Amino acid sequence: MRTLLGDYLLQHLQQASEGTLPARVFNCLRDAILEGILAPNTRLPASRDLANELHVSRNTVLNAYEQLRAEGYIQAHTGRGTWVSETLPESYIQVSTTPTYAAATKEEITHTLSHRGASLLQHAAASPYQWGAFVPGAPDVTEFPHAEFNRIKSRLSRQPEIANLIYSNAGGCIELRHALADYLRIARSVNCETDQIIITEGIHQAVDLVSRALCDLNDHVWIENPGYWGAKNILRINGLNIIPMPVDAEGIIPEEQPSTPPRLIFVTPSHQYPLGSHLSLARRRKLLDLAKQHGSWIIEDDYDSEFRFSGQPYPSLQGLEDNPPVIYIGTFSKTIYPALRIGYMVVPKNLVQPLRTISAELYRGGHLLTQRALAEFISEGHYAAHIRRMRLLYSKRRKFLIELIHRYLGDVFVHEFNHDAGLHLVLKLPDHANDVEISALALSRGVNVRPLSQYYSGVDTPIQSGLLLGFACVQEQDMTFAFSILRQCLIENGIELFPQNR
Ligand SMILES: Cc1ncc(COP(=O)(O)O)c(C=O)c1O
Repeated sequence: MRTLLGDYLLQHLQQASEGTLPARVFNCLRDAILEGILAPNTRLPASRDLANELHVSRNTVLNAYEQLRAEGYIQAHTGRGTWVSETLPESYIQVSTTPTYAAATKEEITHTLSHRGASLLQHAAASPYQWGAFVPGAPDVTEFPHAEFNRIKSRLSRQPEIANLIYSNAGGCIELRHALADYLRIARSVNCETDQIIITEGIHQAVDLVSRALCDLNDHVWIENPGYWGAKNILRINGLNIIPMPVDAEGIIPEEQPSTPPRLIFVTPSHQYPLGSHLSLARRRKLLDLAKQHGSWIIEDDYDSEFRFSGQPYPSLQGLEDNPPVIYIGTFSKTIYPALRIGYMVVPKNLVQPLRTISAELYRGGHLLTQRALAEFISEGHYAAHIRRMRLLYSKRRKFLIELIHRYLGDVFVHEFNHDAGLHLVLKLPDHANDVEISALALSRGVNVRPLSQYYSGVDTPIQSGLLLGFACVQEQDMTFAFSILRQCLIENGIELFPQNR
């Protein structure tokens, strides 16, 4: 069974690279005690259970417990287990948490990196924590049928075909492109033939490829505001001029008569990231007309469209007409797991050859054996079955989280654009709330939420305060615990609550 403490320790163990494993487990447990994640008089998990959860030997945990006991952080009571001490050793409460390495100064960085490298660094937003309550956008990677996938992979690896061991210049494994074309035509109403598909290492790589291959320095690119910072950073480092467009309940609001037409329009039509609205038919048509009129390309990021929990799935924007100026991009990061690093693009026919060649020149193609296994996993029906199962699971978890919000915070905290879809939802905060401070406080207590205000660019759009809460990778009992910590953080920040059970 996974626990919140286990998740916290796993995340911190990944960050801590110095010292032996027992020393790292000791340090992480001690930090959890000092930060109040493990409050005084809390019972620690049995050493065997914690060892299983952290995938370390029981001796490693026993050594860490012994060291904590010797230093007075915990106490062992025969027959009653191990408990956090009521009074912690004073000297350790003063322990500095500053890293021992000297951080480079801003000036040093500016001299070392290129202007665009320094600018990207300044905007870097990826969290070091990618697992646990409430990391947005993280699927439950423990639920994937790893055994089934590995069975296919090991069979194919025994006598691998030469074609899967050399560079790929043809847009990726042909069997996977075939399987995807079939899947996308049916599941996403995408208009495509196998040849139009190019396999990538995920959406990030697809955006990189498109911006390098189709844009020149300072070309204008429209993005949604608020929008996905990951795509924004890639467009930025490729020298594009980012023009934010506001978003409402119908999705992006495009400028009617742009003085400088955009070269690219980056949108998330099925499930606007991060607010959750769905791009209306009228706006879809408007965007397509605009793109055709100005010679722009629309990038359709369809990152989590598989997870719509009620009603019919919204068809893709790409499928709305024949040969539209749309580059459709998707990923297995949300349906399988992010570390797989496999995604795909469906490109208009006239771009197939140039984009394939440029992709091969830039990145070389790899992981063909995994792609081949994925093709089989899809065509044998395991992929669709896994998505169906996860749709049910995530829908249940989303409902559970919504109920917690209603019951302990109040209806007004559910953002009105939230649809019954996706892997995260937006908790709406009053305008005066400092969502950055609240997120930092929650993170210091082991709860990972992200501030909505940081997804905005520019000064023209009013910034809403809120928190992104990922629910897909959080079991219900962990959700309740993490939610109570979050609620406490809101109270400490002076947020007035309107719980239904008052
Ligand atoms: C809107 C959006 N697009 C794309 C991605 C990343 O996709 P990939 O892992 O395929 O690069 C994310 C990841 O969270 C996302 O939220």
